[in-house]
Amino acid sequence: MHRKQFLKTSCSFCVLASAGFFVSTLPSCATAILFKNKDNKIAVPVSFFAKNDLQIIRTREAEFDIALRKEKDGSYTALLLKCTHADNALTSTGNSFICTLHGSKFDIEGLVTKGPAVHTLQKYHTQVISDHVIITLQ
Ligand code: FES
Repeated sequence: MHRKQFLKTSCSFCVLASAGFFVSTLPSCATAILFKNKDNKIAVPVSFFAKNDLQIIRTREAEFDIALRKEKDGSYTALLLKCTHADNALTSTGNSFICTLHGSKFDIEGLVTKGPAVHTLQKYHTQVISDHVIITLQ
């Protein structure tokens, strides 16, 4: 590794570590298990999206997963995988999200495509900082 690349990588890690972010992934699992920091933010490495534009993010503290999708323009969309009908966990099919409790379906944008749910999925603000997507849980 060249000195410049080493410094860039090391500094990125230090910035995130000082912000309280820690990452733990299971290489054989499609779901990344991450930690939120004291500011209710989750840092997801951009490298997670090298092969797949959709990642399912799980935090140890949260009841529901988050679907984080890379858009064609390079931005990211974060959707809470909690059914808006009666708060059941949703399952990703890769291009939609389904609720096994009463059958609601949501498209990749979080819009309802089949009821009984009528409200879109909750979205979180995202921004890219230092090779990581930061999801703000507010
Ligand atoms: S809780 Fe999801 S459809 Fe009822």
